Amino acid sequence: MSTPTIFPPRPTSRRQLGGKIGIGEKITVVQDTFGKIFNEGTEFQRDGSQFDALFRDGDTYMVGGMTCLAIHTPGHTPACMVHVMGDAAFVGDTLFMPDGGSARADFPGGDAGQLYDSIQKVLSLPDAMRLFMCHDYGPNGRDIRWETTVAAEKAHNIHVGGGKTRDDFVRFRTERDATLAVPRLILPSLQVNMRAGEVPKDHDGRPMLKVPVNGL
Ligand SMILES: [Fe+2]
Repeated sequence: MSTPTIFPPRPTSRRQLGGKIGIGEKITVVQDTFGKIFNEGTEFQRDGSQFDALFRDGDTYMVGGMTCLAIHTPGHTPACMVHVMGDAAFVGDTLFMPDGGSARADFPGGDAGQLYDSIQKVLSLPDAMRLFMCHDYGPNGRDIRWETTVAAEKAHNIHVGGGKTRDDFVRFRTERDATLAVPRLILPSLQVNMRAGEVPKDHDGRPMLKVPVNGL
């Protein structure tokens, strides 16, 4: 068993409030990919050091008296992790509710085959484990929901349930992703998220975001 890489505190308002942010260690791949896309300079570190902790697959850590487990689940992004805490798992962007299917895999660094493999890791958790969603879009007009179980996903998930194969999933996911619009706030979100929540600054220290006109 290993534990996450912990960085020393940084003197910013976020730390003054006492919050800590951990993320999958492959955030370094995300930072490298989007550092190029946004043409960031050398002041943008691509080693994950903006975060307080970097998790590797299988890392364990404590929340109060509870031992938690981080599982690497790439596919939506290279850095995605699922966190198992007691009888619950927080699945990030892997599965959605059974009638919602799965996360898209077409952003830079995404991979539908990897996403399928990561979803299998979630489905191999105990049947009764509670799964908490990262997104829900209320398909077919139903109210927003956020909690299901491994058993319900295995039986009913419209993208991976009922024994669908990896090839079926990759074909379906690739075709569907080609029809999805670019999320409206993805450009500012990426630039802030890859800095652990800090807004980038221009050379005069003014908060400044970039818009790559040709898209991602
Ligand atoms: Fe996402």
